[in-house]
Amino acid sequence: MEPSILENFVERACSAAACENPTAALRSLLEESISDKTAMAEAIARQPDDEVLIFENETCSIWTCRYHSDVVLPPHEHLMTVHIAVYRGNEVEILYHRDADRLRHAKNRVVLEGEVVSLGPDAVHAVTAEGDMPSYAIHIYEGATTQVTRSLFDWTSGGEIEFTMANFHAMLRKPTDVEELQ
Ligand SMILES: [Fe+2]
Repeated sequence: MEPSILENFVERACSAAACENPTAALRSLLEESISDKTAMAEAIARQPDDEVLIFENETCSIWTCRYHSDVVLPPHEHLMTVHIAVYRGNEVEILYHRDADRLRHAKNRVVLEGEVVSLGPDAVHAVTAEGDMPSYAIHIYEGATTQVTRSLFDWTSGGEIEFTMANFHAMLRKPTDVEELQ
């Protein structure tokens, strides 16, 4: 059987992540993948869950991500560079600065269908989608996301909270309850 579009993508992303300049190589791979955006979106639509880790090693983690405009994921850090390519819909990054032990809202960055955006290792963001349809994206991290201890941040106080799936789900919000989206 022929490898699927996602299997092909993973193979190329792995080589890009292992090369001398992974940041540039991963970005150009993602930019190139936009030319196949319909097929990429369809493959992401077929994934069994909204967020699926499709590959991870010490150089990169590749996730398929579907976000919905009626749910906002809580503020969190990654501790590594991430590259985001949106193939359908619009993904919204609610970006924060860390000020001592608090969070300060910096700005919202809408990643439009067909765009590629990178966030540095210090980035803290909350995430949702904008518009009538979910956003369909690939997120590639320059490292192993499941091997680092990272934090969520309280919506109100900005204080660090242990990143567990239970905490993550308890902190999901409706967009109307997120001040940064009003
Ligand atoms: Fe994130």
